[in-house]
Amino acid sequence: MKVAVLGAAGGIGQALALLLKLQLPAGTNLALYDIAPVTPGVAADVSHIPTAVKVEGFGGEDPTPALQGADLVLISAGVARKPGMDRSDLFNINAGIVRNLIEKVAAVCPKACVGLITNPVNTTVAIAAEVLKKAGVYDKNKLFGVTTLDVLRSETFVSELKGKDVNKIKVPVVGGHSGVTILPLLSQAHEEDKIKFTDEEVEALTKRIQNAGTEVVQAKAGGGSATLSMAQAAARFARAVLKGLTGEEVVEYAYVEGDGKYARFFAQPVRFGRNGVEKILPIGDLSAYEQAAIEAMIPTLKADIELGEKFING
Ligand SMILES: NC(=O)c1ccc[n+]([C@@H]2O[C@H](COP(=O)([O-])OP(=O)(O)OC[C@H]3O[C@@H](n4cnc5c(N)ncnc54)[C@H](O)[C@@H]3O)[C@@H](O)[C@H]2O)c1
Repeated sequence: MKVAVLGAAGGIGQALALLLKLQLPAGTNLALYDIAPVTPGVAADVSHIPTAVKVEGFGGEDPTPALQGADLVLISAGVARKPGMDRSDLFNINAGIVRNLIEKVAAVCPKACVGLITNPVNTTVAIAAEVLKKAGVYDKNKLFGVTTLDVLRSETFVSELKGKDVNKIKVPVVGGHSGVTILPLLSQAHEEDKIKFTDEEVEALTKRIQNAGTEVVQAKAGGGSATLSMAQAAARFARAVLKGLTGEEVVEYAYVEGDGKYARFFAQPVRFGRNGVEKILPIGDLSAYEQAAIEAMIPTLKADIELGEKFING
C-alpha cells in the first residue's frame, strides 16, 4: 500500500507524517509532498524513526512522483483559519489548490481513495467530485471528506462530561464539517450502555462540538487552527481506509456521496472495503432535537455543495 500526503510540510501535514510513520502497517510506503522547500527535509527527518514504513519526500510544483501508485491520497494543502474567520472564508484560496491537486490525482492515480482535509470540506469535496467527473474517473466510493476530528472531539468531550472511559465511547457525528452542519447524535452515544444527557447538556455539548475548531483557532491566537488533533483524526481515518482496502471490515464516519436523502454529500457511517466505501450504513433513530437540527442545516449544506459544483462547472 502507498499513502500520499499533499500539504505535508504544514501544521497538519508534518504531524500527520509523524503519526503515519508510527501507525501505518509495516511495509506501507508514505509519500510526502508540499510546495514548501522544506518537504524533503521533513521526509528525511521522519524517515529516521525506526518503523517499517518507507518515507519519501517531494517538493516543487508537481505532485506526480508522490502520487504514482498511491492507494490513498490525503490532502491538507491550503490555508488555515485565523481568528474571526469561518471555514467558508478559506474558499477563495483553497478551492483552486484542491482543483489543481485533484486534476493531478485524476491523471496519475485515478483509482486511489482520496481523503480531503482542506477546508471548507463541505465544498472542497464537491469540487473534487466535479473535477474527477470531468476527467471521467469519478468513483463516489473513493472520495471522502475527513470529518473524523468531529468524532474525536465528541468522544473526548462526552467522556470528560460523564466520566466515562474515552476508549469505549462511541458518538456518531453526521452532516457536514462546519458550524451547524456538524451534528453529534448524542441520543446514540454509548459506552457499553447508552449514555443519558439532559436537554441542557445536549444543547451545550452540541454547540461545543460545533464550535470546537473555533475554540482552537482562538486559543492559537493567529497561529492557525487544529493541527495535532486533526493529524490524529486523519491517521485514524487513513488506518480505517487501508484496513478496508486489505479486506478487513471497519466502520468510520466520513463525508461521502450517498443516497442524497439529505444532501448530495453527507457525513454518515461508512463501512470501508476493498473498493473504498463498501456500504453506507443508516444513521439510525434520531431524537426530535436531532431531527430538527438536520432539517435546519440542510440549506447551508446544500449551498456549500453548490458553491463547489459551480466553481468547476460555472
Ligand atoms: N477537516 C478538518 O477537520 C480540518 C481540521 C483542521 C484544519 N483543516 C484544514 O486543513 C488545511 C491545512 O491546515 P494546516 O493547519 O496544516 O495549514 P498550514 O498552513 O500549516 O499548512 C498548509 C500546507 O499546504 C501547503 N500548500 C499550499 N498550497 C499547496 C499546493 N498547491 N500543493 C501542496 N501543498 C500546498 C503549504 O505549503 C503548507 O505547508 C486548512 O485548509 C485547514 O482549514 C481541516
